[in-house]
Amino acid sequence: MTPTTSNSNTALSMQNGKGEKRNDPVLLNDWYAVTRTQDLQPGSLIKFRLLDIDLVIWRGDDGQVQAWEDRCPHRSVRLSAGNVVGNTLVCSYHGMSYNSAGQCIKVPAHPGYIPPKQACAHTFQVKERYGLIYVCLGEPQQDIVVFPEWNEPAYRCYLTGPYFIRSNGYRAIENFLDVAHFPFLHEGILGDRDRPEIEDYPVVINDDGVFASNIRVWQPDPYGTGQGDYVIYDYWAFRPLTAYLRKYSPTGECLTLLYNVTPVSEEECVGWMLGSLNYAHDISDQAIRAFQDEIVFQDLDNLESHTPKKLPLDSQVEFHVPSDRSSLMYRKWLKQLGITYGIL
Ligand code: FES
Ligand code: FE
Repeated sequence: MTPTTSNSNTALSMQNGKGEKRNDPVLLNDWYAVTRTQDLQPGSLIKFRLLDIDLVIWRGDDGQVQAWEDRCPHRSVRLSAGNVVGNTLVCSYHGMSYNSAGQCIKVPAHPGYIPPKQACAHTFQVKERYGLIYVCLGEPQQDIVVFPEWNEPAYRCYLTGPYFIRSNGYRAIENFLDVAHFPFLHEGILGDRDRPEIEDYPVVINDDGVFASNIRVWQPDPYGTGQGDYVIYDYWAFRPLTAYLRKYSPTGECLTLLYNVTPVSEEECVGWMLGSLNYAHDISDQAIRAFQDEIVFQDLDNLESHTPKKLPLDSQVEFHVPSDRSSLMYRKWLKQLGITYGIL
C-alpha cells in the first residue's frame, strides 16, 4: 500500500497491491506508536509496518528520529537493509546516502554528482513522547492523545507493550472498552463469575469521541486489600485506535490506562499501554508491569479468534445486549467518521 496525495485536497489516500483505493484521512492523519524510545539508539534502525505501509525508522548520531517509507527511490529496494552512518541512511544496494530530510546527497559510483530533487525518500512526521516514538503518515489534525497523569506526582506511571496481536485494531479497542468479559477471561482478578451483572450505563458521542461513564463492576480484590468491592470505570475512545479508562473507588484510589493501538494491517495490530495509579506504593514497578502483561495475555487467544476479523458496522452481523452499549456507540462513531480500513 502506498500513500498518494489526492487531487482535490491534502487528504491522503491509500492504494494496496491490488489497486484497491481507500481514502481514510482520519486514520492517515493520526499518530501511532511504532517503537519504544529506548529501543532505537543513535545509529540504529528498525522496520515497522503501519497501515500496510512498510517503514524504516532510524535515529542519527544527533539523536533525531526519522520515519520513511522503506523504499529506496533509486531502485525501490528496502532502505532498512542499509545502515545509519552519522546522520545519514546509506542504502545497501549502491551505497547512496540520504540525509535527514530524505534527500540523496552522495552517489558512490559518481563522486561529485549532484542528485536531482526527486532523489528523495518519502518521509513522514515523527514525535517522541511518553517513552514512545509516534509516526503520522498524513497531515496531523491533532496532537498525540494526552496522558494526563504522566507528570502528576501523585501517580506512578508506567509503559507496557509492545503487544503483538493478530487482530484487527478496532477489535482490540472494543475489548478494552468491554467490562462484561472481566468475570470470564479475567476471572478472579478483574471479575467474579458469581457477580457478572452489568447495570445500564450512559454513553455519548461528542467532539472528543465516545464517552462511557459510571460503569459498575464487582471485583474480588480491586485494591490489594483482600476485600471484594464495586469499582467504577469511565471510558473514552478519543481516536479510532486510542482509548483511555479511569477506574476509581469512592475512597480515592484511581488507576488509569491509555491504550494506543497501532494498526499494522487490517488484521494485525500492536498495543502499547500507558498506565498510572495513585495507590499500591509498596508494589514494585516490575510487578505492576507483569500484572498488566498478564491481563493482556489473558485476552489474546480470544481476541485473535474473531471471525470475521474485520469490524462489522452493520448491526445485523452480530447481536448485541445492553452491556455492549459502549461498543455499539464506538461502531456508530467509526461509521460517522467514514472509516473504511479494517471495516467489514
Ligand atoms: Fe538504493 Fe540503488 S537502490 S542506492
Ligand atoms: Fe480483557
